[in-house]
Amino acid sequence: MTRAKILVARAIFPETIEKLKTHFEVESNQADETWSPSQLADRLKDKAGAFTTGTERIDGALLDGCPHLRICANMAVGYNNFDVDAMTAHGVLATNAPDVLTETTADFGFALLMATARRVTESEHFLRAGKWTKWSYDMFAGSDIHGSTLGIIGMGRIGQGIARRGAMGFGMKVVYHNRSRLDAAIEAQCGATYVSKEELLRTADHVVLVVPYSAASHHTIGEAELALMKPTATLVNIARGGIVDDAALAKALKDKRIAAAGLDVFEGEPKVHPDLLTVPNVVLTPHIASATVPTRRAMADLAADNLIAYLTRGEALTPLNPA
Ligand code: DGY
Repeated sequence: MTRAKILVARAIFPETIEKLKTHFEVESNQADETWSPSQLADRLKDKAGAFTTGTERIDGALLDGCPHLRICANMAVGYNNFDVDAMTAHGVLATNAPDVLTETTADFGFALLMATARRVTESEHFLRAGKWTKWSYDMFAGSDIHGSTLGIIGMGRIGQGIARRGAMGFGMKVVYHNRSRLDAAIEAQCGATYVSKEELLRTADHVVLVVPYSAASHHTIGEAELALMKPTATLVNIARGGIVDDAALAKALKDKRIAAAGLDVFEGEPKVHPDLLTVPNVVLTPHIASATVPTRRAMADLAADNLIAYLTRGEALTPLNPA
């Protein structure tokens, strides 16, 4: 029996490649070359499946040249690299990798929040530069986490994980805003209260963004929203670049309109807005919120299992557009 051909579009754990090879004829980009959309399309034109990572754009133009493609399995919970409508129109199943990264990503959201509020990286740079000559009462004085108000925009699984950490671990008052209000039982489990976006921005000491990217969530935080925030507030984005207007944020940080920000994702990443690189009151990390070894393995396994389940049995584990 001929085996289905699949493409693994980015470098991935060798064990994942081996697992896929037990079912498929696998072409993989283990050299992690950067492919243009047409290079990707060229490699996909004879493939039945694609293992993607969130950095490969799958849209109608690409799919027009891939008549055999049946499934794209994203090794990410976010799937804004997929044009799901175009995939549905072309009969291509989209899958993502939810759940397996929830707690790890919520941990990182908290790590970034704490590093930002307590000025961890800024003070480390100061020390490494040999500038620490004496103790002083206000050196790198930041803001408290415990007992403060945490505002979460986007209350899916990861947002709920951050809420639980804030309410139960740090005694924070937690408010949230979401497209739809959660059930009372989930609100109680998370210790979180629903408020309008405006109220959240006006009252929170720390605002964490965990909203998925879409045209509707583009620039959820721009100049007007930053103007509503407390001058002592911090803003953390672990969602997607484009949720925040990075130019407006850099200006707000420079003007001390808000105290600090922590960013794991950027508009146009891996490029970072140059103004963000010059302001000291921002912690910058390269899209690593889900990056622990066990979680990245679980994400890779889930993407691989989606390909195997769909191409061998016709049923995926986490379909986004089931037929
Ligand atoms: C996700 O899963 O969406 C992450 O951003 C990828 O690391």
